Amino acid sequence: MKFFVDTADVEAIAELHALGMVDGVTTNPSLIMKSGRDILEVTKEICEIVPGPVSAETVALDAEGMIAEGRKLAAIAPNITVKVPLTWDGLKACKVLSGEGHMVNVTLCFSANQALLAAKAGATFISPFVGRLDDINLDGMDLIADIRTIYDNYDFKTQILAASIRTVNHVSQAAMIGADVMTAPPEVIRKLAQHPLTDKGLEAFLKDWEKTGQKIL
Ligand code: E4P
Repeated sequence: MKFFVDTADVEAIAELHALGMVDGVTTNPSLIMKSGRDILEVTKEICEIVPGPVSAETVALDAEGMIAEGRKLAAIAPNITVKVPLTWDGLKACKVLSGEGHMVNVTLCFSANQALLAAKAGATFISPFVGRLDDINLDGMDLIADIRTIYDNYDFKTQILAASIRTVNHVSQAAMIGADVMTAPPEVIRKLAQHPLTDKGLEAFLKDWEKTGQKIL
């Protein structure tokens, strides 16, 4: 499973990238707002750190506007993935931009039928939002599983990018279902290393080690 980090925080991206935990990055208008940075500037900086796909989102509502914005974003670096919303116009923009050879991430996907359309429009990635479905008492993982089944049935090459990942359980569940990629905030990726029994075990080992009076260095 590929790990994308869902942030426009350059320092956090650099730290996780140094550990080999970042195969790509996803941003969105809210994350750009949170960073307080200029979209073109911060996205360029991210692309200089991470060689994998870096999603930058369009904000126009019409296909023509999305295509123009997508071309401008794609000119930032060769690893830019243009992110468009899963609307009819977004699908039109996806078809055109992917036809021009750009990677396209179709975002804000909340149904299996939407994912089917994105694959037919040539999306490189489909982003089903797991956490936001959970927020309205649906099971986001059911959607990941349904899309996996549909894409496998018809051998679609569009990669399932499990998005809106909020918990460590989301990560393992998406991996078990076979999502190709997951994108999560840096804090969720860091939390994957944590387990209370690891902390407890380490504490006990260190107590016993102290009793030996030995030193390794
Ligand atoms: C994905 O590309 C989105 O940026 C992100 O995962 C949305 O997550 P949220 O629902 O926690 O805002």
